[in-house]
Amino acid sequence: MTTPEIETLPDAAALATRVATRLLDRLGSVQAASGQPHIALSGGSTADAVHGELARLSPQSGVDWTRVVVWWGDDRFVPGDSPERNAVQARRSFLDVVGATQIHEMPSTDGTDEVAAGAAAYGSLLRSQGSGEFEIVMLGVGEDGHVASLFPGRPELDVDDRIAVAVTDSPKPPPERITLTFAALNRSRSVWFLVSGADKAAVVAAALVGDADFHDIPARGVAGGEETIWFIDTAAASKL
Ligand code: 6PG
Repeated sequence: MTTPEIETLPDAAALATRVATRLLDRLGSVQAASGQPHIALSGGSTADAVHGELARLSPQSGVDWTRVVVWWGDDRFVPGDSPERNAVQARRSFLDVVGATQIHEMPSTDGTDEVAAGAAAYGSLLRSQGSGEFEIVMLGVGEDGHVASLFPGRPELDVDDRIAVAVTDSPKPPPERITLTFAALNRSRSVWFLVSGADKAAVVAAALVGDADFHDIPARGVAGGEETIWFIDTAAASKL
């Protein structure tokens, strides 16, 4: 596992601009070398701000979004058009704006009643396309240390034989979700954590300092093969 690097930005807006700029630079470099990058997106307000900046900055970046393959680290198992869906938020904020076409949303209740079947289907799809060898995974972090829908103390944290699993009694609503597991997230070249706000200062410190177990702070269980970067604002960094 790579050692986490920390990049501190003055505030949430600066963080969003920085992450969007770095993401577009990276995608452009991969495409310039004839690659077709796969990325995984997150929900949450910090990710949403990054997505807004991606919409704004993409036109001048030269990135061809039809040659970027888009996945999610987790999503809520609710109707496909629900505003609660991470995918709906991302489509509205940037994917539809930049013209992305290779979008692999996690299954919703529109496709199946069974969240476990949805998770299995997503795992199979991902397995057919590299099993999660993402260029970059972006992850928001909850105040409890959760990433994707991997929550503290939960059995999903110890799943190592599946790359996507169902969550049926999530401590944060809605109760049913689909999440990638550490087995998939840790195959990414880069893992970028996106964290802003004073209410995240304690969890940022718990994740980056000391020896907390990933069962208590799931964010400690994820690292990129080539880099792990925590993009945090000064408020979130205040207890480091
Ligand atoms: C969810 C959210 C959640 C979010 C983090 C960080 O599925 O309930 O998407 O996992 O990503 O809690 O969110 P913020 O960036 O809004 O703090």
